[in-house]
Amino acid sequence: MTTDGMLALHTLRRGVPGSLPLVVLHGFPVDHRMWLDVTDLLPGERTVLAPDLPGFGTSPSGPDVAVAVGADPAVASVDVMADGVAATLRAAGVERAVVAGLSMGGYVALSMVERHRDLVAGLGLVDTKATADDDDARARRLAIARQVLADKRVEAVYGMRTSVLGPTNRVARPDLVERMSEWIRDQGPSAVAWAQEAMAARPDRTELLATYDGPSLVVVGEEDEIAPVDVARGMSYKLPDSDLVIVPRAGHMTSIESPQPVASGLSRLLRRAEAAGS
Ligand code: MLT
Repeated sequence: MTTDGMLALHTLRRGVPGSLPLVVLHGFPVDHRMWLDVTDLLPGERTVLAPDLPGFGTSPSGPDVAVAVGADPAVASVDVMADGVAATLRAAGVERAVVAGLSMGGYVALSMVERHRDLVAGLGLVDTKATADDDDARARRLAIARQVLADKRVEAVYGMRTSVLGPTNRVARPDLVERMSEWIRDQGPSAVAWAQEAMAARPDRTELLATYDGPSLVVVGEEDEIAPVDVARGMSYKLPDSDLVIVPRAGHMTSIESPQPVASGLSRLLRRAEAAGS
């Protein structure tokens, strides 16, 4: 556990010094491990860094990270996650990277585009959206936050072990349900509550997409019920230099349901970002 408000930063792969690193941001309510299958398929010369977002995995809590980045510890925010990632990368000597996030990680990546654009040499948006929550979704999140804190356990989000998978894999891949179960049970109720409050408060960043002129990648599972294909097409249309990958027979967790197309898209994105920077 880090004690200075810096996030736990896992080096999933150590590549050739000087090549552009890839930073992968995990979804809710799990941790960096949801990127391991994709990392295994990336070319060996790439460094891959995976922070655990505040409170998840072995990272310090949201309020601790907020204090470290000079924000109000009483306010949960996706921007605190983004500032924490940026500070952690800079402390590790990373000044520029391709940043890819899945779902909640995508909300953080978009916040980084807004707040730390100099760091973002390429943008990967995986099974995510740029819009804010509507009132019903916000109320559901805040109810879950209250519930997990009252229960002192994460049972209220345990259903996500199946709901994040596509209908095909919910039945065909009990191994994935098992992995999701293990990862969800490893997280604490205060992390889950803080992240729900942070996501409930996130702004609409749709208009930001058109302002990002670096290379970008949008990935979506064709069976994603949380951030569906139409949403991904809309984001890809708005991004000036975007590659869209629709992953067959996968839901909201493409990184574990079908890692090969995700890895191929990210490899292309790294090459495009390097070409754009040269
Ligand atoms: C995730 O996978 O990170 C969640 O679906 C994000 C969310 O709840 O909006």
